[in-house]
Amino acid sequence: MRVLMVCLGNICRSPMAEGLLRQKLAVRGLADFVTVDSAGTGGWHAGEPPDRRTVAVLQRAGAPSDMVARQIVDADFHQFDVILAMDRANAVTLRGFAPPGARAAIALLREGLSPDEVPDPYYGGEEGFERVRALIDEALEGWLARWEHEGLLRR
Ligand code: 4NP
Repeated sequence: MRVLMVCLGNICRSPMAEGLLRQKLAVRGLADFVTVDSAGTGGWHAGEPPDRRTVAVLQRAGAPSDMVARQIVDADFHQFDVILAMDRANAVTLRGFAPPGARAAIALLREGLSPDEVPDPYYGGEEGFERVRALIDEALEGWLARWEHEGLLRR
């Protein structure tokens, strides 16, 4: 099972989703069965570490925070099973980028939840990052339950 988290810059929301999911998988002893990565639809921050406010959230959660930002590439659409977009704009961009024959299913991280988007916290304050964390956390619990139910959290 391979999951790619995607936002705009790959420095705030998607690395947070990647780190929190990796942490949840580790706690459940499932880290070996799921590959988790993240990328941005844009490449302006490629090569940079996550935003310090995302790093702070991840460190408080005991989650990894050693990501390096990158832009999504065609190969991602062939290598990942599911690509989870943080907001609708990201999802639209991803559908436009998807090459012919792509294997990955594209969905909103918060599909079926209200609100169904994780808002961009970049220009706000620290509270925005705590809110993002709560929105991501709730969604991840839902995906984990679904993947478990579908038998996807095994080799
Ligand atoms: P992210 O946040 O998409 O959650 O990583 C952003 C980070 C940087 C920019 C936009 C969103 N930016 O325009 O530089």
